Amino acid sequence: MRARIAGTGSYVPERVMTNADLERMVATSDSWIVARTGIRERRIAAPGEACSDLGMKAAERALEAAGITAADLDLILVATCTGDAPLPSTACLIQHRLGAVRAAACDLSAACCGFVFALAVGDAYVRTGFRHVLVVGSEVMSMLIDWTDRNTCVLFGDGAGAVVLSPTEGEQGILSSHLHSDGNLWDLICVPGGGSRMPPSEKMLAEGLQFIKMKGNETFKVAVKTLEEAAREALAANHLSVADLDLYVPHQANFRIIKAVADRLGLPMEKVVLNMDRYGNTSAASIPLALDEAVRAGRVKKGNLVLIEAFGSGLTWASSVVRW
Ligand SMILES: CC(C)(COP(=O)(O)OP(=O)(O)OC[C@H]1O[C@@H](n2cnc3c(N)ncnc32)[C@H](O)[C@@H]1OP(=O)(O)O)[C@@H](O)C(=O)NCCC(=O)NCCS
Repeated sequence: MRARIAGTGSYVPERVMTNADLERMVATSDSWIVARTGIRERRIAAPGEACSDLGMKAAERALEAAGITAADLDLILVATCTGDAPLPSTACLIQHRLGAVRAAACDLSAACCGFVFALAVGDAYVRTGFRHVLVVGSEVMSMLIDWTDRNTCVLFGDGAGAVVLSPTEGEQGILSSHLHSDGNLWDLICVPGGGSRMPPSEKMLAEGLQFIKMKGNETFKVAVKTLEEAAREALAANHLSVADLDLYVPHQANFRIIKAVADRLGLPMEKVVLNMDRYGNTSAASIPLALDEAVRAGRVKKGNLVLIEAFGSGLTWASSVVRW
């Protein structure tokens, strides 16, 4: 017994922020952003539009695609680092609004790797007897952005994606997941303030410590290395080769990172799902959003072998192989 992905869904806020908009805010250019990242535009949540609002819409679409109702859910996991509030969990807010009365619900914090970690946890629960698990990745990254910092403000966007996991005994499903962390690299990407180490204060806000700080260049190098390793690890665990893969759904942080990993693996770019040009890096939402678009575009067929993988703050990196 293991979990298969029975349905996918996604949602992005209406407001589009283009690179041209950013040119009017910081010293940057559309050509620099496109050449260095592959990003052309990103979505930004409306004032008052929170993580659960985005996640809820993605969840409804995933439930519809899976052909089940919220009442069928046993567990709801929400991967996010931008939840509605410290308490309660965003998962409980989504549970309430969906009417998933039987489901346990909690959030999972692993930054951009959150969805892959949550998928592995959901799969583990299905293997122990849970029937339907909803896994949501939802982020309002715009709340963590310093719109005067060109090193970070061009990279991120808001959005949500979701999958429904259901049990299967057949060939389909999540074949294996591989999760890694190295807290030694915690300061490559971090938000210094707003938690118990540095609670909100006038000084903290004045210094902008509620915003993302990132060592971009160092992160880039670690990302390429860990993503290649995690891909090879996942394939080896299932006695598969790169040539067996039908689709690669990587975390959408930077086109150059993804291209470097694909080149090292010898994977043709036609097999790679890319949507960072329209959404930027949506952290935990990035993979389920890209996966849902690929599914709805007919790029994933029954029996296909799909590799998903992410890296992010922590530092964390993770991969998963799915037989569709
Ligand atoms: C951030 C990133 C795009 C920067 O690209 P890079 O090729 O590494 O560029 P560098 O950091 O070496 O900076 C090169 C120059 O561009 C400048 N620069 C940085 N951001 C800029 C921007 N938005 N517009 C124009 N110039 C910019 C830098 O100041 C630097 O100028 P200098 O040479 O005069 O000092 C890239 O490092 C990256 O994507 N890293 C990974 C980040 C990531 O994925 N984070 C999320 C993880 S989940």
